[in-house]
Amino acid sequence: MTSFGFVPILCTDNDQDGLPKEHTPMIKMTTTWLLAALLMFVQLTASATAGETDFSGLKDKYEKDHPGKGKFSQYWEPIPIQKYWNPRNFYQPPTAVSGEVSRDQCVACHQSLTPGAFHAWENSTHAKLDAIRNLSNGQDARFYKKEKLAEIERNLVKQGVLKEGEPLKEVGCIDCHGKVGAQSIRHDKDLVMPDRTQCGSCHLQEFAEAESEKDQQWPQGQWGKGHPSHAVDWEANVETAIWAGMAEREIAQGCDMCHYQQNKCDGCHTRHSFSAAEARQPEACATCHNGVDHNEWENYTLSKHGTVYQTHKSTWNFDVPLKDALTKGGYTAPTCQYCHFEFNGEFSHNLVRKVRWGFNPTPAIADNLKHPWFEGRKENWNTTCAHCHSPSFARSYLEAADKGTLAGLKVEQEAKQVVEGLFRDGLLPGQKTNRPAPPAPEKDAPGGFFQLFWAKGNNPSHVERVHADMWEHDLIKLYKGLVHGNPGGFTYTEGWSELMRDYAVIMDENTRLREKSGNAPGAAAANPPAGKDDSNVRNVLGGLALLAGIAVLLYRRKH
Ligand code: HEC
Ligand code: HEC
Ligand code: HEC
Ligand code: HEC
Ligand code: HEC
Ligand code: HEC
Ligand code: HEC
Ligand code: HEC
Repeated sequence: MTSFGFVPILCTDNDQDGLPKEHTPMIKMTTTWLLAALLMFVQLTASATAGETDFSGLKDKYEKDHPGKGKFSQYWEPIPIQKYWNPRNFYQPPTAVSGEVSRDQCVACHQSLTPGAFHAWENSTHAKLDAIRNLSNGQDARFYKKEKLAEIERNLVKQGVLKEGEPLKEVGCIDCHGKVGAQSIRHDKDLVMPDRTQCGSCHLQEFAEAESEKDQQWPQGQWGKGHPSHAVDWEANVETAIWAGMAEREIAQGCDMCHYQQNKCDGCHTRHSFSAAEARQPEACATCHNGVDHNEWENYTLSKHGTVYQTHKSTWNFDVPLKDALTKGGYTAPTCQYCHFEFNGEFSHNLVRKVRWGFNPTPAIADNLKHPWFEGRKENWNTTCAHCHSPSFARSYLEAADKGTLAGLKVEQEAKQVVEGLFRDGLLPGQKTNRPAPPAPEKDAPGGFFQLFWAKGNNPSHVERVHADMWEHDLIKLYKGLVHGNPGGFTYTEGWSELMRDYAVIMDENTRLREKSGNAPGAAAANPPAGKDDSNVRNVLGGLALLAGIAVLLYRRKH
């Protein structure tokens, strides 16, 4: 993806109008839907067999799919800290300790060297597997872990790490930082930082679920396969042109600090506690899901759901698996995890099975909301909400959220036409005299994503930056505020009110720039580009005019 204001769109003419096309010929739609139904069936059967995937097959696929430095690799070199964000490609062990060290020596040395890391590990389930093995009370919230431990042991038997019937004693430093089951490693040569496969060799189920996000395919190609999702977030990062092109690598690596989950598993259960209870709390998502272009944390905490969570969480039990959250965990309101890990009553590490609007609202999504892929997912959302609300409440709220999002998209699209018009007509300040090109591989474009992270001379001009704010910030906050039930987050403080402010700036500038150039003031705004249906009418009229012209010509020739 070059800039996500212009996400890859199959039906190019959808790009022009902000609202669903209601007059598309019925026949075309029916065939597309049939195809989509077939595709969904194929995908369902494919994911049903995913559970049987063996570890080595999954590992091979993970490694084959991994983009490494990505398609823009020639434009950048990693700085030292990046070896921790993407250890697969960049990790080199320090040379401080040379020679072979054994499993027991790790703890002996690191107990005093890195006591914080040591104690976190010492108190974690990984260091105390017997505590789980010995659980006898079925009423204990953690009792379910016994079966998980047994399943992990079966995985390790299959990989030849354990003998049949041999118990796993511990998950020690060496299992993650060397090789699973190894007895010794060379500290300066074999030391690794564990990637997804290292955890996946024991946690096959979670690894497989997380990887299955890559199977998501948008019915009209709105996004590339698997996007957006944790499973491809490193790829999304390094294959964004401005990320690769930025000279300031210390700033660019900030993107990596959120976009590393394709590489490793400590995003939600942090090292070295690796706790499921931690991962079940909304705070686990906050570091990454906040801010101007994905303010889910802010919206959630300020919503009624967030209020209930904050005021009642001391009585909720986060040791309980999500599937039992309402019955045994005492949840009275949903968490991020409860809503996003769930699909048809089941919970998994595939978080994208109900995604519709995704990262940002676009015409290509808006125009296809009636497609079965989108309708089906909306039904699934209704079911989630109906765990607590009435179906009528759920339906009407989600309907309002969709319509509110469409209204915002319409405003943003109108402003986009105006900014593109100014660019086309060469009227932006300094456009012909002081507009350096962005660094390669980025390409110049009006109002692009790159203009949030790079500026030189008159690139971007004020209106472009304001438009980038509109689509990347205001519109997204409007949509995220709506779907997460935070009224101030979409009506007033953020979202709609900001769209109005930025719209006014763009229209103002348009008039000013066009008046200055002697161009008809506000021409583009006064005559927004014709919608699809208008252009159909124009085409018919044009066709008729052409026919009339030919008739006149023929008539003249004859006579
Ligand atoms: C003789 C003491 C000693 C022993 C034994 C030892 N380490 Fe270390 N380890 C160190 C020192 C010193 C460093 C810090 C190196 C640095 O940051 O430059 C280190 C760093 C590390 C790091 C962080 C590396 C990085 O790139 O940040 C890991 C992980 C690690 N050790 C794991 C292990 C494991 C696993 C074992 C057992 C197989 C082990 N250590 C045994 C002394 C030891
Ligand atoms: C369950 C797997 C697991 C175990 C067990 C484990 N680690 Fe780690 N460790 C990780 C992960 C994941 C990272 C982060 C890797 C990255 O950022 O690329 C990490 C990073 C580190 C680092 C470097 C990063 C930092 O914060 O400085 C050190 C040092 C370290 N571990 C020490 C240890 C020691 C010592 C032990 C044993 C007492 C241990 N680890 C056991 C998974 C593990
Ligand atoms: C050698 C096998 C092994 C490796 C490697 C391993 N684990 Fe585990 N892990 C276990 C076992 C066994 C359990 C206990 C069963 C359970 O709690 O589900 C466990 C438990 C967990 C838990 C739940 C602990 C709790 O108290 O809630 C999390 C989360 C987890 N592991 C994550 C990871 C991550 C992330 C990695 C890689 C950085 C990793 N594990 C590497 C075997 C492993
Ligand atoms: C370490 C950072 C990080 C953490 C922690 C994190 N996420 Fe994400 N999340 C991301 C990034 C980055 C993406 C975008 C993926 C991409 O680039 O394709 C993403 C994408 C998603 C998506 C898919 C978005 C879409 O548009 O389809 C969902 C849903 C999601 N995250 C939910 C969560 C939830 C819920 C939690 C907490 C349990 C969480 N995330 C924790 C970084 C994080
Ligand atoms: C977006 C946040 C997020 C990421 C990223 C994530 N996990 Fe989890 N993980 C969770 C949540 C939430 C749970 C609790 C699920 C439940 O209760 O159904 C969980 C549960 C687990 C468990 C079950 C432990 C137990 O005892 O219940 C394991 C094992 C695990 N994760 C391993 C992994 C591995 C391996 C990866 C990387 C492939 C990973 N996780 C990445 C959020 C995350
Ligand atoms: C009450 C259920 C609910 C809760 C709680 C919730 N979300 Fe959402 N979230 C939604 C809905 C509904 C959407 C819009 C889905 C759509 O139509 O695309 C959404 C959208 C998202 C998206 C964009 C991807 C997508 O599915 O379209 C992300 C990322 C996200 N939420 C993250 C979070 C995070 C992080 C939290 C907690 C801080 C959270 N959500 C809490 C219901 C919830
Ligand atoms: C604070 C954490 C954070 C930072 C910093 C961050 N992102 Fe993201 N990014 C996310 C999240 C979360 C999403 C998905 C949100 C959603 O779907 O609602 C995302 C989505 C994206 C997407 C669209 C998803 C896809 O699959 O294509 C791209 C591209 C992207 N980010 C690139 C970048 C780049 C480049 C930077 C740095 C200039 C950056 N991000 C900085 C968290 C972050
Ligand atoms: C686990 C239970 C639970 C789930 C699931 C749930 N909610 Fe809620 N919701 C609540 C509770 C409790 C309240 C607080 C009710 C009040 O304000 O009196 C609430 C409040 C709300 C409110 C504010 C209502 C008001 O009267 O102010 C909205 C809007 C809302 N939920 C929408 C949704 C949507 C949409 C979904 C699904 C995407 C959803 N909820 C899923 C429990 C839930």
